[in-house]
Amino acid sequence: MSLSASGPNSEQIRYWNEQSGPKWVRLETRLDEQIAPLGLAAMQTGGIGAGAKVLDVGCGCGQTSLQLAERVGESGSVLGADISGPMLERAAARAKAVPAANVSFVHADAQTHTFPQGAFDAVFSRFGVMFFADPVAAFANLRRGIADSGGLAFVCWQPLSENPWMSEPMAAIAGLVDLSNTPRPAPGAPGPFSMGDPDRVRAILGDAGYTSIDVDPLRTEVSLGGGGTLDEIVDFALEMGPASAALKASGQDVTQEIRDAVRDALSPHATGKGVRMDAAAWVVAARAR
Ligand SMILES: C[S@@+](CC[C@H](N)C(=O)[O-])C[C@H]1O[C@@H](n2cnc3c(N)ncnc32)[C@H](O)[C@@H]1O
Repeated sequence: MSLSASGPNSEQIRYWNEQSGPKWVRLETRLDEQIAPLGLAAMQTGGIGAGAKVLDVGCGCGQTSLQLAERVGESGSVLGADISGPMLERAAARAKAVPAANVSFVHADAQTHTFPQGAFDAVFSRFGVMFFADPVAAFANLRRGIADSGGLAFVCWQPLSENPWMSEPMAAIAGLVDLSNTPRPAPGAPGPFSMGDPDRVRAILGDAGYTSIDVDPLRTEVSLGGGGTLDEIVDFALEMGPASAALKASGQDVTQEIRDAVRDALSPHATGKGVRMDAAAWVVAARAR
């Protein structure tokens, strides 16, 4: 599987192949455990059922592609598309291990790849549609692949301020880390929170030609890092999300003081079932025509 880092999303292609992809592969089990309920909520909203042909955009390490494959059964099919080679390799290996004959994968940029016209009953994504340089072009491109009677369903994050599981570790390290080089993407720039504004989501999808657009809040509790000891979850919180990005940009090592600060921030949320914190996402559904 190969995809050159070119085109409008070249920066993201590099990022998801060189930096973030290998990390997602390493933390696959933890991430899957943490975000599975949110993806399942979007599948439910999208009404994806037996016999459907589904495109899983930004399928990553493949958990959702396999869940979708089970939902649609032998008479349906799932195509997972992603720009990350390391994550797609994992996805393909997982599908082979099941084995899931109705799943295939393509190493492609969902914004620019030519998908077969009208071939899908549903386009689905779990946190894989927030990284497009030109979201209107990307969603219009995906719409061409959807059958007249088909639709779109995805889940994306609400803003950072609504997601303490990401903002609290960041706030905990703020006084201990040099934040002068921390990336501060402009509102709407590609990144985990680019679809945080529901009016923007509606405008993007409307401009891309979708109809019956619903953007519904999903407020829930997530088990940070999918569970484990408090120390394991501190490690996870320092490896994923804004705290990890700030540390990387600072070039600083993780000191005991930094670990203690994150531990203090997370310990009030520690339960017998791991560290449980509030999270907020949008579950978005739309018709293609
Ligand atoms: C936050 S991860 C989510 C992965 C997976 N959906 C999950 O929930 O585990 C975002 C995924 O979107 C992929 N991605 C980003 N931009 C993309 C694009 N233009 N086309 C296809 N995939 C893309 C990344 O490589 C990554 O796998």
